[in-house]
Amino acid sequence: MKILEQKILKDGKILGGDILKVDNFLNHQMDVALFNELGRDIYTHYQGCGVNKILTIEASGIGLACITAQFFNCNVLFAKKRKSLNISDDVFSTKVYSFTKKTEYDVVVSKEYLGKDDKVLIIDDFLANGNACLGLIDLVRKAGGEVVGVSCAVEKTYQGGYDKIAALGYDVYSLARIAEMKDGHIKFVE
Ligand code: G4P
Repeated sequence: MKILEQKILKDGKILGGDILKVDNFLNHQMDVALFNELGRDIYTHYQGCGVNKILTIEASGIGLACITAQFFNCNVLFAKKRKSLNISDDVFSTKVYSFTKKTEYDVVVSKEYLGKDDKVLIIDDFLANGNACLGLIDLVRKAGGEVVGVSCAVEKTYQGGYDKIAALGYDVYSLARIAEMKDGHIKFVE
C-alpha cells in the first residue's frame, strides 16, 4: 500500500459520507516529512519529462507543489481565485465551478509567469470532479505551454475527475486513489 493511503487510514476521517478530512496532515497542518516522500514519488514518476514549472491553485495545493518543486529544481506558480469579474489584460483567466461549494469562480495567473516555453506539471491536493485541474490545464493551453501531467495527492476516483483528465490524454498520477467511501470505510483502487 502506498504511504499516503496508509496515512489516510491512520489519520484521515470521513465526514458526512463523502468528505475526507485530512487537515491534520495535508491541507491545514502539513506533515512536511510526508510531503517530502510524496514529492520524491511525484518526481520519480515524471523524471525525464522536462518539467520546468509546477502550477497549482491556492490554497491547499501550494505546500505539496513547493516541496515537489525542490526535486525538479523549478519554480511554482499558483493560480489565484477571484470573485471579481474584472479580468485585466495582463492575466490568463478561466472559470472553475466547484461542485463541493456550489460556486463558480475566476482563476487567474499573470501572463508574465506562464508562456510557450513552459513544460508544466499540475499539482493539487484533491482530484474530485476535476474542475480545478481542468481549469489549470486551460490556463496552460491559453499561455501556449505544454501540460506534462497532473498529479494530486488524493484522488476520489469515483467522482470522475480522473476519467475526464485521462480521457484528454494527460498522464494523471495520484498518490492515493479512493475507489469508494462507504459506512466509514475507505476502499482504494487496486
Ligand atoms: P474539483 O476541484 O476536483 O473539481 O472538485 P470539487 O469542485 O468537488 O472540489 C472543490 C474543493 O473541495 C477543492 O478545494 C477540493 O480540494 C475540495 N475537496 C473535494 N473533495 C474533498 C474531500 O473529500 N475532502 C476535502 N478535505 N476536500 C475536498 P478548494 O475549494 O479549491 O479549496 P482550497 O484548496 O482553497 O482548500
